[in-house]
Amino acid sequence: MSYRLTVMGTGYLGATHAACMAALGFEVLGLDVDPDKIARLRAGDLPIHEPGLQDLLQSGLASGRLRFTTSYEEAAEFGDVHFVCVGTPQKKGEYAADVSYLDAVVESLAPHLTRQCLVVGKSTVPVGTAQRLADKLALLAPAADLVELAWNPEFLREGFAVKDTMNPDRIVLGVVSDKAEKVMREVYEPMLSAGTPLIITDYPTAELVKVAANAFLATKISFINAMAEVCEAAHADVKDLSLALSFDERIGGRFLNPGLGFGGGCLPKDIRAFMARAGELGADQALTFLREVDAINMRRRARMVDLARELAGGSFRGCSVTVLGAAFKPNSDDIRDSPALDVALKIQEQGGKVTVYDPVALDNVRKAHPNLSVGSSALEAAQGAHVVLLLTEWPEFTELDPETLGGVVASRRIVDGRNALDAETWRASGWHYRALGRP
Ligand code: UDX
Repeated sequence: MSYRLTVMGTGYLGATHAACMAALGFEVLGLDVDPDKIARLRAGDLPIHEPGLQDLLQSGLASGRLRFTTSYEEAAEFGDVHFVCVGTPQKKGEYAADVSYLDAVVESLAPHLTRQCLVVGKSTVPVGTAQRLADKLALLAPAADLVELAWNPEFLREGFAVKDTMNPDRIVLGVVSDKAEKVMREVYEPMLSAGTPLIITDYPTAELVKVAANAFLATKISFINAMAEVCEAAHADVKDLSLALSFDERIGGRFLNPGLGFGGGCLPKDIRAFMARAGELGADQALTFLREVDAINMRRRARMVDLARELAGGSFRGCSVTVLGAAFKPNSDDIRDSPALDVALKIQEQGGKVTVYDPVALDNVRKAHPNLSVGSSALEAAQGAHVVLLLTEWPEFTELDPETLGGVVASRRIVDGRNALDAETWRASGWHYRALGRP
């Protein structure tokens, strides 16, 4: 049987999941409580930047298999499988995750569940949430005995969301019945028949896989950035160090790029929420190292500001600073906890005249920080700059010609926050080139 799917929450995760499942041939109904978002999605206008997704959205709409609604009643009526893809941001002033959007989905959906269905959580959550939501469903759904919960964490990376959804590294399923497993095997049949590994487990393990994966990735980045700090002190070169480490197959080169560190809507808040949850469970000692991982990461931002100030001659007063990049990483317009933006704002606070340019994130920057001045291109933003900072490694920045950029700035001084430029080439062009963790 071909199940009818709903996707609750149409942000980076939900919009991608909905469009990809429709592309695989399922009838999909996406739901969001934000009517503006739904209106845009219905019109085929993707509210986020994600390569390949706009086309999938439009072809899904044209096929009639992909539709959007704000009505939980309609979703409950329609769906055999309800994917829950809402965000779990960091609580204000705390490390813990705010899971209120998840609770809101379950509380809004459950009273309308009058027939057999499977609710599948994909959001990143504190361990124990799935069981709590399963209990809530059992309490609130009229068809309680026919409604089940599964946990199916999502590992997609922004910028590669379509590819990661269509060809995942692995599928993890936390289930409590064979019936739920059978349904999910049918839903993910295209991926499973392509050989994607499937791990069937219980709720808490499925929940933990996701946060453990993100904790590992964050640790790997902070490890190399800690090495960068030591390299700076020892006049060594962390880029060469990282390259040399990468040839050890046990270590590997991915997520070993030293620089300004990690940001975004996932890694920073996920490691914090993981520590908070471990504390509640009495296992806080096991994760104290993540405090250090977080601290190393935040120190990179402070160090970048210091390096920029040094290049500015000791103070930002009267100094024009161009920041190339605002998104937390290339191929995304996401500015949540963006290291680049954080640095730009700190320099502005310290009196620098900052101009930011990013190929796709400027609309988000304008909305969130109307006082930050933005350029219309890299070259325009760099007009008269005393210091240029490369903080997000978009190809259009890493491919910049040092002579062309040199022609518009007031002084040829650059800090390469992502170790993405060839130092020799830039120095040969008369630039004062500095990078994190390098002589
Ligand atoms: C991450 C996980 O990769 C993904 O599996 C999970 O589902 C959500 O969180 P994402 O936030 O999209 O995905 O970004 P990712 O590609 O992991 O990059 C995270 C941050 O780490 C970025 O700010 C990036 O610039 C930084 N990073 C990455 C480094 O500083 N160095 C590296 O070597 C790699």
